[in-house]
Amino acid sequence: MSDNRNSDNSLFSVQGKRVLISGAGANGGVGHALALGFGQAGANLVLCDIDNAGLQQTVQQLQDLGIDALACQADISDQRQVEQLFLQLDPHLGGIDVLINVPFAFPRRVKPHQLEAQDWQQTLDVSLSGYFYCNQQALQRMLDQPGGGSIIQIGSNAGINALGRGAMPYSCAKAAVHQMTREIAIEYARHGIRCNALAPAQIRTPGLEQHLADPTFREQVLPRILNGLPQGRLIEPDELVGPALFLASEASSAINGVILPVDQGNTAMNAGGGNH
Ligand SMILES: NC(=O)c1ccc[n+]([C@@H]2O[C@H](COP(=O)([O-])OP(=O)(O)OC[C@H]3O[C@@H](n4cnc5c(N)ncnc54)[C@H](O)[C@@H]3O)[C@@H](O)[C@H]2O)c1
Repeated sequence: MSDNRNSDNSLFSVQGKRVLISGAGANGGVGHALALGFGQAGANLVLCDIDNAGLQQTVQQLQDLGIDALACQADISDQRQVEQLFLQLDPHLGGIDVLINVPFAFPRRVKPHQLEAQDWQQTLDVSLSGYFYCNQQALQRMLDQPGGGSIIQIGSNAGINALGRGAMPYSCAKAAVHQMTREIAIEYARHGIRCNALAPAQIRTPGLEQHLADPTFREQVLPRILNGLPQGRLIEPDELVGPALFLASEASSAINGVILPVDQGNTAMNAGGGNH
């Protein structure tokens, strides 16, 4: 009896796709989880991070799994370093099918009237301009290749609605990343290039773990966060892997310009909502 089922799941496959992930240092965050997830899914990887030691550790972890990846240290907020990064990528991958932008900077949580201009600038330099520099390099290559490509940006629910708690520069950067996603999606749709963003709610990353070590945060802020997360728990970094694989694969071939919440329903919930 013939079986027409798609046993290798190729619709969702990223096998052999040429993928660059920025912010992929081994610190237990989202970029790290994506590097391991895409490597295990068969992607050909170039990984970038400002933290070379963390980056080498991710590459070693992949090698221990029998997976090769090229590590390129770069600060994505420096346009010249991004150009150099892509010049290293070119001979290694011979093109780029998928770019995933992950890093962010958020030097200090202070109210807007106390915010130093340099902290505002640093947040935007990494979390917004850095994404633009990487996208520009990727787009130049994707336009020159027959298959187009897929750009995935890590946005945030903080770019959808306001957080307070000194988050303004971060939230503004994320809102702009969402709009950059839509603009790129429309500009290049006829070239087979798609651009989408993931908008997670609070993820149990090392950054959040640091906040959790502070008793005031744990007692006052964590309960509010958990109230806003309908599944009643923090999101794990590797829960970003499935949505990113989907956006990178042919399964999402008509999905473009979408800001996909990965938030347990946080942005869908009414102010009076909840199920407990
Ligand atoms: N943690 C959360 O609750 C949460 C919620 C929503 C969205 N996000 C978003 O998820 C993404 C990842 O967050 P995370 O907490 O995993 O981050 P992280 O700080 O754990 O990891 C980011 C990585 O980027 C690297 N990096 C920082 N600046 C860089 C630069 N200039 N150039 C190159 N690499 C640089 C860091 O070294 C690090 O390895 C971010 O875009 C963040 O805004 C996080």
